[in-house]
Order: sequence, then structure tokens, then C-alpha cells
Amino acid sequence: MSSEKVLYTSSAQQTRQIARDFAALLRGGEIVFLRGPIGAGKTVFVKGVAEALGMRSSPTSASFSLMKRYQKGKKTLFHIDLFRLSEGEVFNLGFEEMLEDEKAVILAEWPDPLASMMPQDRLEMDFTLCGGDERRIALRAFGPVSHALAEGLWKSQNK
Ligand SMILES: Nc1ncnc2c1ncn2[C@@H]1O[C@H](COP(=O)(O)OP(=O)(O)OP(=O)(O)O)[C@@H](O)[C@H]1O
Ligand SMILES: [Mg+2]
Repeated sequence: MSSEKVLYTSSAQQTRQIARDFAALLRGGEIVFLRGPIGAGKTVFVKGVAEALGMRSSPTSASFSLMKRYQKGKKTLFHIDLFRLSEGEVFNLGFEEMLEDEKAVILAEWPDPLASMMPQDRLEMDFTLCGGDERRIALRAFGPVSHALAEGLWKSQNK
């Protein structure tokens, strides 16, 4: 299932609201690949999700800035950013271990280097700059978990 649904946002504030609505839908185990150019709003979205879940980023070693781990109680969220990395450089990231944590939510910016480890069930969010603060976010779901998530998110924005 990979039919596309599209959201629009006109401000960082509105993107944070979308992130809050998204966070409310999470049950654990969701994997999201965020694509789009620099400054598109991917990080604004991810931080909005973590904030909405009341999560704090737990200190990871400085050398591990590619990955931030957010935690609240038993809930874990991983924020990955692989900008300009090659496939060969992400083997030490521990992505497969993250996948083994079945309840962890994974949000990955610039995910292309993960191509060889791409989870089957994943939501892809493609951000496009549309001038000024306007952004278009296309949702494409691969698999039942991400399909439900995309549906839920789309409905929350089209009430
Ligand atoms: N509609 C919008 N949604 C999100 N951010 C917006 C919007 N309009 C303006 N902005 C601004 O655009 C910037 C988005 O930055 P952000 O770091 O989220 O981009 P990014 O997609 O993560 O880029 P990078 O690829 O460099 O990581 C922020 O400064 C934010 O305030
Ligand atoms: Mg970013």
C-alpha cells in the first residue's frame, strides 16, 4: 500500500501542531523516513514529536551526533540524521539494533544510506519548499502500520 496523501503547512508553528497530532497516533514501533531539502522542516517536525511525547534527549556520546535517543519511561524515540553519509558509514550506527527494539519509534532524516536495511513497513514523509513558510508534506505508507499512521494523520488535519 503506498497511495500518497498530502498535507500543507504555512508555518513552523503549524508543523509543530502536525507533529503533536502525529505523536498522539504513535503506539510504538513506527519507522519514518523524512526527506526533503535543507530547511524544509524535518527537524522541526521531529523535535515537535519528541516534545509532544514529553521526551528528553538522553546524553549520547558526542561522537554519536548522527543519532539522538529520546526517552520517557519505557518509551524510546530515535532521531537519526544521515546527511551526506554514505552507506558504508552507517554500519556502526546500530540501526539494526534499533529495529530489534520493536516498540521504539524511529525518525530518520536523510535516510538514503539506510537503503540496504530499509524496513518494509515504513512511512515516508517528503517535505517540499513551496515559497516563504509554505511546505508540502507528502505521506507515503509502505506496510500496514505506516498506512494506519498516514491515514490517522491525514484525518487529523482534515477534520
Ligand atoms: N512551515 C514550516 N514548517 C517547518 N519549518 C518552517 C516552516 N516555515 C518556516 N520554517 C523554518 O524553516 C526551518 C526548518 O529547519 P529544519 O532544521 O527543521 O529543517 P530540516 O528539514 O531539518 O533541514 P536539514 O536537512 O538541514 O536537517 C526552521 O528555521 C523553521 O523555523
Ligand atoms: Mg534537520
